[in-house]
Amino acid sequence: MTAPLTDNAVLKLLNVESAYGPIKAIRGVSLQVRRGEIATVLGSNGAGKTTILKTISGIIDPRKGTVEFKGENITAQDPAHIVQQGLMHVPEGREVFPLLSVRDNLLMGAYTRNDRDGVARDMELVFSYFPILRERAAQDAGLLSGGQQQMLAISRALMADPDLILLDEPSLGLSPKLTKEIFEIVVRINRERGTTILLVEQNANMALNASDYGYVLENGRIVMEDTCARLREKEDIKEFYLGMKEAGVRADRRWKKKKNWR
Ligand SMILES: Nc1ncnc2c1ncn2[C@@H]1O[C@H](COP(=O)(O)OP(=O)(O)OP(=O)(O)O)[C@@H](O)[C@H]1O
Ligand SMILES: [Mg+2]
Repeated sequence: MTAPLTDNAVLKLLNVESAYGPIKAIRGVSLQVRRGEIATVLGSNGAGKTTILKTISGIIDPRKGTVEFKGENITAQDPAHIVQQGLMHVPEGREVFPLLSVRDNLLMGAYTRNDRDGVARDMELVFSYFPILRERAAQDAGLLSGGQQQMLAISRALMADPDLILLDEPSLGLSPKLTKEIFEIVVRINRERGTTILLVEQNANMALNASDYGYVLENGRIVMEDTCARLREKEDIKEFYLGMKEAGVRADRRWKKKKNWR
C-alpha cells in the first residue's frame, strides 16, 4: 500500500492475531480504513469477522499485532476508553437496552458528550434518518422489531458523533427490503456526515455495493483486498459470494480446496 493512503488511515490493524483459548480466530490480519470511506470485511460464518471488530473495540485483547486509531496505539485498551476516543461498535445482534425507552437508548449513545445542543441536533438527525424511532421514542426498545432495533443500534452509535463506526452484520435476520433500506441510510450517513465506517458482512452483494474498499476474510486470514468496484468483477467473488454460479456440492468442495485467490 502506498504511503499517502496510509497517512489518511483512521484505523490500522497490523498483523493482528486473536484467539479464544486454543482456537485462533484471526491470524495476521492487517487492514486499514481511510478517513471518510466505508470499508468492508466479507467472510462466511466463522471466518472471524466479529472477532476482528471485538479486537478493535477492546472487547478481546489480541495475542499479537497492533491496532491504531487516529494515529494512537489502542491495542488492548479498555473498551470505554476506546469509545471516548470516538470509536463506536454496533455489535452483532444489536444489543439495545430492552427496558429503556428508545429515546433513553439514544441518550446512552451520547453519554460521553456534554454539548447538549449538539446532542439535541443529532437526535433530530437520527429521527430524520429513521422516522419510526421518533414515533416510538417513548416506547421500550425491547418492543421494537428486529429491523427497528438495528436502526436504533446504528442511531445510538451516531449519537456519540463518532469518527468511526464498526458495524457487525446489520443485515442479520432482516428482510431483503429492510436490509436495502438500512444500507441506503448507512451510505447516506457516510456521504452526508463523512462518518468513516467499517462494515463486516456475509451479505456480499449489499456490502460491495455500499462500500469503497473491501477485504475478503477466510479462516481468520485476509485472502484478498481491493476496491469494491474491482472486487465485484472478480470471478472468485462472483462465484462464491455473489452466488452467480450454481452453489452445489461441487462448488462447496472447490470452495474448501481453493487456496489461491485472484
Ligand atoms: N467466545 C468464543 N469462544 C470460543 N470460540 C469462539 C468464540 N467466539 C467465536 N469463536 C470462534 O472463532 C471463530 C471466528 O468467530 P467469529 O464470531 O469472529 O466469526 P464471524 O465471521 O463473525 O461469523 P458469523 O458470520 O457467523 O458471525 C469461529 O471459529 C468461532 O467458532
Ligand atoms: Mg459474526
